[in-house]
Amino acid sequence: MLPLPLLPHEQPCTCLFCCFTLLSLGALIYLICQLVKMFLYHGHQDSTASIPPGTGGLPLIGETLQYGNCFRTKLFGETHVFVSSTESAKAILNNELGKFTKKYIRSIAELVGDQSLLCASHQQHKMIRGHLANLFSTTSISMFIKMVDELMVETLGGWEHGSTVVILDEALKITCKAMCKTLMSLESGPELEMLQNEVAQVCEAMLAFPLRLPWTRFYKGLQARKRIISILEKEISERRRGIQTFREDFLQHMLNEDDKASTDESPRLTDAEIIDNILTMIIAGQDTTASAITWMIKFLDENQDVLEKLRNEQQHLAKKASPTSCLTLEDLSEMPYASKVVKESLRMASVVPWFPRQALQDCEIEGFKIKKGWNINIDARSIHLDPMVYNDPNKFSPQRFDDESKPYRFLAFGMGGRTCLGMNMAKAMMLVFLHRLITTYK
Ligand code: HEM
Repeated sequence: MLPLPLLPHEQPCTCLFCCFTLLSLGALIYLICQLVKMFLYHGHQDSTASIPPGTGGLPLIGETLQYGNCFRTKLFGETHVFVSSTESAKAILNNELGKFTKKYIRSIAELVGDQSLLCASHQQHKMIRGHLANLFSTTSISMFIKMVDELMVETLGGWEHGSTVVILDEALKITCKAMCKTLMSLESGPELEMLQNEVAQVCEAMLAFPLRLPWTRFYKGLQARKRIISILEKEISERRRGIQTFREDFLQHMLNEDDKASTDESPRLTDAEIIDNILTMIIAGQDTTASAITWMIKFLDENQDVLEKLRNEQQHLAKKASPTSCLTLEDLSEMPYASKVVKESLRMASVVPWFPRQALQDCEIEGFKIKKGWNINIDARSIHLDPMVYNDPNKFSPQRFDDESKPYRFLAFGMGGRTCLGMNMAKAMMLVFLHRLITTYK
């Protein structure tokens, strides 16, 4: 048999190049067809249907145009409606008639777990939230403030020796340590580092395309979740067998419930429920708060008049306290201006920009028909930056919160039955950070 003639070196590349060009051309033609279709059908749908305006969107990427207080688009093949009026936010978040349920996309549920507060069914959510709410008592917030203050003093003290400080990185170190210590008494050492690393991978995967291939961020996040579960299972088992000394943390409180009688209305939490919700609280608490702190420092740097006013308030407080004592809950209640700075930062940054829900039945929103099964997203960022809701919304102006009378305008922590459970912890971390930064550094 004759050997096959060897192709010149460039030939395979040329073929590859042709294929690539053809594919690109095909994709381009498809894209143009979709755009033409969108353009042609757009006006038609808007004028006849009473469903919210918006096109079907391009597959996968949805659309970037927004139409007033309510528009519709398609993401990953599902219909999403975005709503940005305070009245609709109130109706959906209060959910008095049970028309809506919370719904995250499937990939997020896989990462935080089915038993997580974020993904649990309505009935299960009520039961789990009942258990978790007990953890956020005034006593535990007071202990939390003391612990966070010690952490801040230690971390900020370390900045003296460096030339540059990256606020987001530093804030993330603090919030992660604060959450891990509060939830499961992990303070330092390789165990904490390992957990931080695994949690970071899960957080990254939540923003990634849900492709389950070994090199993808989503796959790596799922693997990290498995390792976190093993760490927590080991910890629970050791605590149950009395190997670990008694610890005053959220995990221990949840395990102590084992000793109480389980009733139909309030059954004990299973291990899976405990694990998924410890992971949920780490994720929900650290990135959000670190990002809020970072935005707050940026806004203060850009608004020196606000910074000056804040400095006066904080230095006045510092003079009253003994230099070695930790901040207390009472101290934080004597920071009215700083509290408004925190609130205004959260309004302008909208760290959690929208809240996902699903319609459980056909209904109406903003005069438009909503079909059962559609995803409804409350667009908090648009409400926070709506000039009809806030005067001069792009101006950083803490005193706008002197008037607290209008409800459902400030949605940084959500509202209704799904309001952020860690709201007071987050505010406390932000206030303590402000106090220590402003009274330590210029
Ligand atoms: C600045 C920081 C934070 C912001 C902006 C924030 C924002 C939010 C928002 C908007 C929601 C409700 C979303 C919805 O209705 O769909 C939420 C829920 C939640 N947050 Fe936070 N959060 C922060 C910090 C924390 C912290 C420190 C924790 C600590 C445990 C935490 C735990 C939770 C939990 C467990 C939920 C789910 C509540 C439920 O579904 O019943 N968050 N958060």
